[in-house]
Amino acid sequence: AMERTLSIIKPDATERNITGLIVARLEGAGLRVVAQKRVWWKKKQAEEFYEMHKKRDFFDELVAFMTSGPIVVQVLEGEDAIKRNRSVMGATNPVDADPGTIRKDFAISLQRNSVHGSDTPENAKREIDLCFKKSEIVG
Ligand code: CMP
Repeated sequence: AMERTLSIIKPDATERNITGLIVARLEGAGLRVVAQKRVWWKKKQAEEFYEMHKKRDFFDELVAFMTSGPIVVQVLEGEDAIKRNRSVMGATNPVDADPGTIRKDFAISLQRNSVHGSDTPENAKREIDLCFKKSEIVG
């Protein structure tokens, strides 16, 4: 089915000036960018976005990293967009990621893993609504 998912290009990627390379991978996988903006999150925004992880031992470091520099947030649209995006991103930890995936080719570590993508339709809706107004999504 046609779906939308929330994608983030993380601070380790904006710092290295490789956002275009990453967008080319996403588009090459059949995903269409229907919303995109560059932002620098405040602590509160990162904490709210990642609230499902707030009990995890990596939460504080995750929030510190995601507020350490600019990010690019996107809504991606396509056939099975959630799975398709997760497939082109590769495994969360780049050491486990398959050849040819974004994380295998660009990620530095489990934390500095270059991209985020929603994992379920429910989270995609929540994350899209958190990051974008309806009028900012142009399909
Ligand atoms: P992301 O898809 O953005 O969702 C949560 C992030 O936490 C994850 O990618 C990783 O970058 C980061 N993270 C740091 N440590 C861990 C861990 N031990 N397990 C899972 N995610 C982790």
